[in-house]
Amino acid sequence: MLAALVATSLGPIRAVGQAVESPPASGTLRQAAKGRFLIGAAVSARGLADPRVADLVAAQYDVLTAENEFKPASLQRQPGRFEFATADRFVEFTRAHGMKLVGHTLCWHSQSPPWIFRGPDGKPLAREEGLKNLKAHIDAVAGHFRGKVVGWDVVNEAISDAKDEYLRKTPGLRSIGDDYIARAFEFAHAADPDAELYYNDYSNENPVKREKTIRLVRDLKAKGVRIDAVGMQCHLILSDSNAIDRLDESIAAYAAEGVKVAITELDVDVLPRRGRGADIGALEKDGANPYKDGLPPEVAEAQARFYARLFQVVLKRPGVVNRVTFWGTQDGTSWLNNFPVPRRTNYPLLWDRALKPKPAFAAVMDVLGRP
Ligand code: XIL
Repeated sequence: MLAALVATSLGPIRAVGQAVESPPASGTLRQAAKGRFLIGAAVSARGLADPRVADLVAAQYDVLTAENEFKPASLQRQPGRFEFATADRFVEFTRAHGMKLVGHTLCWHSQSPPWIFRGPDGKPLAREEGLKNLKAHIDAVAGHFRGKVVGWDVVNEAISDAKDEYLRKTPGLRSIGDDYIARAFEFAHAADPDAELYYNDYSNENPVKREKTIRLVRDLKAKGVRIDAVGMQCHLILSDSNAIDRLDESIAAYAAEGVKVAITELDVDVLPRRGRGADIGALEKDGANPYKDGLPPEVAEAQARFYARLFQVVLKRPGVVNRVTFWGTQDGTSWLNNFPVPRRTNYPLLWDRALKPKPAFAAVMDVLGRP
């Protein structure tokens, strides 16, 4: 079954007339990236329940991230009532297929139950109350998955997008203070001492957020807090042609701070939009939906070249970028069909809606096959 999928999935790559000079090292992303970095994807519980998706995922990737199922709102909607059943299916799946699992995420202002840092009146909890809730959540969750995940996105998206503001004014910050980030890392390390700990954010390939991220890394290190890697979400936009150069510079800058880099949520949006970034609260009301009936070949080729450049940058610094995770596998179930504009037809990933590999898949394989 797996072999059949891989074989059929290789057919169309040649058919689209890509300039593939030498055949890729082998048929899957996982084999092609082997020994250089881990290759991963986010998948939902629903995706895992679809046998065709499950087969593809098990064949292609080393490591999975649950798209929503490890977030605080999924695991502890009601105080003290932890619901691990759905998340545990990811543990079973990755174990059954010899894959690794990343936990996403322990502390985030979004998709978290309001009571963690706020009272019934909506006002921030007193510092000690907020700390107690943060610790209880991390103790229980990182404790439950101890030895089952390789690492955690400990804190997600805590840096402000505003030019002159360092940290985002999240409910956690308003309750606990600026040090809620350091405390979250300490709690995570105590609960699972072998887990890698990541700080994860979007737009941190850009200079302004890069500087603040470096400040945060230095601050954590100065406090003696363990941080293994900066997670760069890399929700990138095809029309933003300089993004890859900024990514290149930022990877170098993070490496110079003595942390690894993981690309954690990679996708390449092909639709027009007003804003950049991936603030899931920042929806745009209207937006054109130009490719309802299919992705024009020239756009698919431009996207393939964009992905190829990105993987060339990843390969430039062996040992620095230790993982590349896509935010999904196939276009049809990507979150970008609903963000930042609801109900559009987007094409951000390597497989199309029929689970056929796109030109971008061939382009990535080509780069990985000729390091
Ligand atoms: C997204 C999921 O893909 C969607 O299914 C959900 O509705 C909203 O969240 N940055 C992150 C991810 O860190 O957790 C977000 O995932 C995408 C942006």
